[in-house]
Amino acid sequence: MSNTDELKKIKDEVLDIQGDLADLRRKEKYFPVIGEGSHEAKIMFVGEAPGEKEALSGRPFVGRSGQFLNELLEGVGIKREDVYITNIVKDRPPKNRDPKPEEIELYAPFLDRQIEIMKPKVIATLGRFSMQYIMNRYGLSFETSPISALHGKVFETEISGEKVKVVPLYHPAVALYNPGSKDELRTDFKILKSLI
Ligand code: URA
Repeated sequence: MSNTDELKKIKDEVLDIQGDLADLRRKEKYFPVIGEGSHEAKIMFVGEAPGEKEALSGRPFVGRSGQFLNELLEGVGIKREDVYITNIVKDRPPKNRDPKPEEIELYAPFLDRQIEIMKPKVIATLGRFSMQYIMNRYGLSFETSPISALHGKVFETEISGEKVKVVPLYHPAVALYNPGSKDELRTDFKILKSLI
């Protein structure tokens, strides 16, 4: 099966999932947000969960934090269509609240499968939820510290026998209320660019 076929299978399974967030999706006529970009991408970005604009369109990072993500990518000459962008949680939490541990547990196996299918060389996590999940999941839990200490650092791990670099980044939304972190994100994107 091609990567595209396998990703389509994930979408079909998420469409059928049961739970509060899936109920909300059906009630509000939202879409699940599976991911977007190249199915052969070397870099995979992992955010937290869709916001309203994402749930209404079925596309990740299309709201205000998405605009800043686009600016960060452009700033280092990476095309959005050449990377793959996804989230841990595939359905929108109400009022953009933080995802609950049981919601992460429910949706994360789909992210694990996306990683297995696409075999990215670099996983860039956006925000602390995806940082914590990816670092714990792939044997980097001994490194765990606050995101303020880990952002922009490059960690090496192996996933199914393949070397993968994990780079924790601040969530682009932080820049919307903390302009100081914009420059830190710009600097971290240069580090990301140097890896590909
Ligand atoms: N924030 C996220 O974490 N993911 C999105 O897709 C949009 C906003």
